[in-house]
Amino acid sequence: MPQDSDTVATLLIIEDDPIQAMLLNHCLEKETYRTIFAKDGPSALTMMRENKPDLVLCDWIMPGMTGIEVCQKIKSNPDFASTIFILLTGKSSLEDQVFGLEAGADDFLNKPVEKNQLLARIHAGLRQKQLYKQLQTTNKELKAAQAQLIQTKKMSSLSKVVAGIAHEINNPISFIHGNIRHAQGYFKDLLALIELFRRTYPEPPEEVASFIEEIELEYITNDIPQLLDSMENGSERVRDIIKSLRTFAGLDESSMKSVSLQECIDNTLSLVEQQLQGDDIQIVRKYSDLPRIHCNFRDINQALMNIFTNAIDVIKDKKQTDSAFQGCIEIATTQPKPNVINISIMDNGNGVDAEIFEKIFDPFFTTKQVGDGMGLGLSVAYRIIQDHQGQLFCNSYPSVGAEFVISLPILVAD
Ligand SMILES: Nc1ncnc2c1ncn2[C@@H]1O[C@H](COP(=O)(O)OP(=O)(O)O)[C@@H](O)[C@H]1O
Ligand SMILES: [Mg+2]
Repeated sequence: MPQDSDTVATLLIIEDDPIQAMLLNHCLEKETYRTIFAKDGPSALTMMRENKPDLVLCDWIMPGMTGIEVCQKIKSNPDFASTIFILLTGKSSLEDQVFGLEAGADDFLNKPVEKNQLLARIHAGLRQKQLYKQLQTTNKELKAAQAQLIQTKKMSSLSKVVAGIAHEINNPISFIHGNIRHAQGYFKDLLALIELFRRTYPEPPEEVASFIEEIELEYITNDIPQLLDSMENGSERVRDIIKSLRTFAGLDESSMKSVSLQECIDNTLSLVEQQLQGDDIQIVRKYSDLPRIHCNFRDINQALMNIFTNAIDVIKDKKQTDSAFQGCIEIATTQPKPNVINISIMDNGNGVDAEIFEKIFDPFFTTKQVGDGMGLGLSVAYRIIQDHQGQLFCNSYPSVGAEFVISLPILVAD
């Protein structure tokens, strides 16, 4: 998160002439700003990165890099877009001023600098910077609210679809599952009856004997129990999936309840099992024995799901460049303090690039193709964890992988 404005403002003065620099310093002596000096453009750019000043006062004419060039460099860097840039110049013609403004300068001060005018311009510049910051914050909040709205809408329609599917499949699969048991019993009796017939009439009539051969009675007798067993396994699997869907959508249950996080993780994983198997991704579980926690489990499932799908995405990407790559997601739960639970989800993708690290939790930030990602997954997960008074953060290990840690307090139901 960016530093906030209540702290002392930092001014960077770029001036090659030591006497001019001294004069400026003198004018600012009684002010509470933190003032730093650079004697040329290149060293100023380094100081910009290190100190992130709020306002820059820069001489126009300097050997090597001119003030205009410094200004263009600074203003073209999005990290410094809100930094106020004031050019110090002996040039007062209209053309010169237009030229300076087009290079991105916010204001001008003519040399020799007059103290009151300098201070007034600095105050005005800092006010402008403050407004810009407020605008940025409001914009961020608006985007977050919009993201939340879209996600809530998406989730409620997803829940409806899931509820519908679960309901539709639930009845037929219950018939199948319930009747397989009976079918197993009936077939057992029928096979016993055939066996009894064969023992009683070891020499069947010609017609019966050829029919027995035709239908491969021996084979059927051996195969039927296996066939019914695998049907039973299949129907149990479908029932498990429905159970996960119902749990995931929070059907029939209030969302706030005491849950085992391990169950949340396993339930959510079972929903992406198809993808995990399809992409041959190994799951390593390192669960500790944890107390149940009171939480909105539907939301927690959603947060876990968002993190898992990202991990699957990066592993899939890595596999495209190296087909022998074995993807792996390690999930560890720990209790670092008596009232805190941590869930760590670590993939072995490529980690998060340093340039985007600060942005991954921003709503609508994505590095994926249009249609593949909306950039909402992590921002929604962040908000969900925040709503639980917890924290979500990322540790990135370049070319080794990324770790997302959910840290949740153990809340007591009220
Ligand atoms: N496990 C990860 N490893 C590397 N980068 C990641 C990982 N998870 C997320 N990211 C980065 O964060 C971005 C934002 O993620 P997210 O908010 O889920 O949106 P989306 O998945 O739609 O892009 C991704 O586009 C990706 O660049
Ligand atoms: Mg995502």
